[in-house]
Amino acid sequence: MAACQTEKKEINFPKTDLANAPLIPKPIKTIPTGSAFGLDASTAIYTSITDPEFEKVGQFLSKSIKEKIGLDVTVNVSTEEKLERLIYINQSDSSDLESPESYQFYIKKDSILLNAKTAAGAFRGVQTLRQLIPETSNDTLTDQPMWVIPSGKIVDAPKYGYRGSMLDVARHFFTVEEVKKYIDALAYYKFNTLHLHLSDDQGWRIEIKSWPKLTEVGSASEVGGGEGGFYTQEEYKDLVTYAADRHITIVPEIDMPGHTNAASLSYPFLHYAGAETPRVRTDMKVGYSSFDARKDTVYSFLDDVICEIAGMTPGPYFHIGGDESHVTKKSDYIYFVEKVEEIVQKHNKRMIGWNEIAQAEINSNSIAQLWNEPENALKAAENGSKIIISPAKRAYLDMQYDSISEYGLHWAGYIPVDVGYKWDPETYVEGISKESILGIEAPLWSETISNSAELEYLAFPRIIGYAELGWSISEHLNWEDYKERLAAQVPYLEAMQINYYPTKLVDWERE
Ligand code: ACM
Repeated sequence: MAACQTEKKEINFPKTDLANAPLIPKPIKTIPTGSAFGLDASTAIYTSITDPEFEKVGQFLSKSIKEKIGLDVTVNVSTEEKLERLIYINQSDSSDLESPESYQFYIKKDSILLNAKTAAGAFRGVQTLRQLIPETSNDTLTDQPMWVIPSGKIVDAPKYGYRGSMLDVARHFFTVEEVKKYIDALAYYKFNTLHLHLSDDQGWRIEIKSWPKLTEVGSASEVGGGEGGFYTQEEYKDLVTYAADRHITIVPEIDMPGHTNAASLSYPFLHYAGAETPRVRTDMKVGYSSFDARKDTVYSFLDDVICEIAGMTPGPYFHIGGDESHVTKKSDYIYFVEKVEEIVQKHNKRMIGWNEIAQAEINSNSIAQLWNEPENALKAAENGSKIIISPAKRAYLDMQYDSISEYGLHWAGYIPVDVGYKWDPETYVEGISKESILGIEAPLWSETISNSAELEYLAFPRIIGYAELGWSISEHLNWEDYKERLAAQVPYLEAMQINYYPTKLVDWERE
């Protein structure tokens, strides 16, 4: 006869189904196993310690759990007490994990195993787990609250290595805190790039120590006549670090040779004879300003500017703008782009420019960003350049949703939430093959917005759709299925106090 034993109490989880979890972006594969993992006070997180970045991902998960449900979960703390449940974030060199951002989950009753090759992959996986944790606990299963996560396997990897949004901090200035809030939301939906449009006719927004008037003179205005503003180099570095902690790369843009009124107002020698005389501009016109493409001093100036910004930017890219230089002679424009490309490369960065730059003989390592001229993007692709897909008619977050929605413009058309979602970057431009596409970016120009609530009104919910277009395989892009999952984002948006446009196209799950 065995001695007296206490039988381990089985938890009878309610029916859960991983296949129905409203994940965005939709993972490549979810294989439900019909049971569940109970997240509770007896759960702990452990991570591989071979790479300290993995422990940081574990800390990020712990902080996210605390913020969402108030539960404290330790990271890599050994304990005498018996651990009931374990989340293990494992650095794996499995050949199943193809790209740096790939990850896999094995969710079982007592353990969650997250495998990733890199900390970036682990971080993307952690976003999936955040989405799987319910807002409310089930208090009837055990004597302490338990948050029920459906069991199964998830296999996932991004479609594109570049998934971005752009924020125009030039037409209206956005504070460091406002940009950080946007970065947080981008991270939740697995974006990996934030492009900052740091200069335009109405304002220069980044401190350049060797040319102080750029901010002393050039930052004090914005569209509509507000006071403008700029990031000190310390603030910019803080943003870069904040983004890097979320595995997001900052792409700085200094737009040139056009869109340079604020710079030429600060330093008149930059001004091009064919351009309008610089003055404080608070209107929304474009295409009237230019740098002088034939002056050596302009290139010495740009060498300093690019050197300082590149030195604070660990990411591989520097964006030179290049759009709408309508008053720059074509020969001057081409000469300018080729000279600036050399400077960007000298400072060890890869040049990105709006599709107009393909008029020049750009290096195949440089990248063209399609916004309005497929023929220029095609030319760049034919010469071996990679393309970022950002068509104004589909991906511009500043286009109004419809004729009655607030904020935004409609020069490229209205973009209702379904129209923003129902297209595939892979097939959008005939002739640009999948291999030529670096990724997708959704730009948010700020002529009509000046604070987080207005920014969010235009960005949300459309940005969530671009997250899926950039990450999920084409077979998974399905509006009917997506709009159900989109409706289920409301608790997250509300918890984060993110404003969004409540389009009637979606049956929002609101209280
Ligand atoms: C642009 O919208 N001018 C790139």
